[in-house]
Amino acid sequence: MLKAETAGKAPRTSLHGHWSSRMAFILAVTGSAVGLGDFWKFPYITGENGGGAFVIVYLFCVFLIGMPVMMSEILIGRRGRRNPVATMALLGEEEGSSRHWSLIGGVGVIAGMLILSYYSVIAGWTIAYTLKSVSGSFVGRSAEDIEGIFSAFTGNWLSVGIAHTIFMALTIFVVARGVERGLEQAVRFMVPALFVLMLFLLGYSINSGHFAEGAAFMLTPKFDALTWDGVLVAMGQAFFTLSIGMGAVMAYGAYLPAESSITSAAAAVVVADTTLSMLAGLVIFPLVFANGLNPGHGPGLVFVTLPLAFGQMSGGVVFATIFFVLLIFAAWTSSIGLMEPAVAWAVEHFHKTRAQAATMIGILIWAVGFGTVFSFNVLADVKFLKGTFFENVDHLTSNIMLPLGGVFVTVFAAWVMCRNSSADELGGTGPIYNLWRFLARYVAPVAIVFVFVKAIGLLPDLS
Ligand code: TRP
Repeated sequence: MLKAETAGKAPRTSLHGHWSSRMAFILAVTGSAVGLGDFWKFPYITGENGGGAFVIVYLFCVFLIGMPVMMSEILIGRRGRRNPVATMALLGEEEGSSRHWSLIGGVGVIAGMLILSYYSVIAGWTIAYTLKSVSGSFVGRSAEDIEGIFSAFTGNWLSVGIAHTIFMALTIFVVARGVERGLEQAVRFMVPALFVLMLFLLGYSINSGHFAEGAAFMLTPKFDALTWDGVLVAMGQAFFTLSIGMGAVMAYGAYLPAESSITSAAAAVVVADTTLSMLAGLVIFPLVFANGLNPGHGPGLVFVTLPLAFGQMSGGVVFATIFFVLLIFAAWTSSIGLMEPAVAWAVEHFHKTRAQAATMIGILIWAVGFGTVFSFNVLADVKFLKGTFFENVDHLTSNIMLPLGGVFVTVFAAWVMCRNSSADELGGTGPIYNLWRFLARYVAPVAIVFVFVKAIGLLPDLS
């Protein structure tokens, strides 16, 4: 998918070649965005934070913060055409600021590794659930049985650890071979397939008899159910689900041909990802109410609701298997994006081959992942700060490191870079450029810092 550039149109060429087309780039970014964040995380944190008001804050964050941050990341990536650490150093110098902007790239590399350490564990659950689906474990089971299957599985650290190991090996394998081949095919097929499958499941949950209740939970804003901590979680989710704030999109942007529109590429990714998250919620919440489950069930929510529904429908074994296989692919195209900045950096910094870098970094991430494996069994009662080890890593990365990365990325693109540079990348200074610049200069950084300060409790509550 990456090909060496022949036309000398770009101001600078990437060391690694370019995407064969804008579509290839959109597919790669969509593949990184669409993942466990949409189908696993979005429903369960929406449930934990009371529904409607949380979803509205999340949508505001996606469009007013996520969109300008994503555009900033892509334009920085394309202008620098290096790995995120080197790109930030290069542009920092070029724009008359400092090479130390590379630190932002470095924090992103670490954030990606930390996210992958737990992402791989949950992706392992989807592997195990594929096997359970094939063997018909969910057929005709009650809500209680399905809950029992979930807690028996996650309670056994060895099975969870093995599944995590398998997923990490799959990720290392693809990253070591180079991400270009395979990825495009996987995404081209997977995203439409997930979309169709979600529409099918939507039909099922509309007929569950509790659709109105589920939809109302998700769409009726009850702001008294939302705390500032919930607002922080909604904002963190906007970053997590769009894969922004850690340099992944920047790394992919480095291979984008000079003439492709960044704005329309970002818009396509944001719309596709947001649609899938909303569909996931509209499928899951009616099923939650139809089966008398608790929306605040936590990380097991999708692993309980959907198997229950599949177990009741005819042909459920087939649909369950297709769903969990697609989820493995969705997680896989995301996990390689999470690892890419670290591997690209290690290849250049330590002069290793891709295979060596992917293996070393992969083993490190795998080991850290055992903190999350144990968070659901042997160490489930060891809680500090935000809860278990898993909850702390998730909070630190999604709710702190990614939004903080977003502040620096927008400040860099909209304040440090000169107007000519950013206008050059965004295709001139029309109304869309002005809107981006306004959001990136004022709205996004101010909103992020404000939410931080409120959630940490530094500002008095006026309500
Ligand atoms: N967006 C992914 C998901 O929703 C998770 C993710 C966060 C990610 N940051 C990323 C994926 C960076 C690839 C690259 O599941």
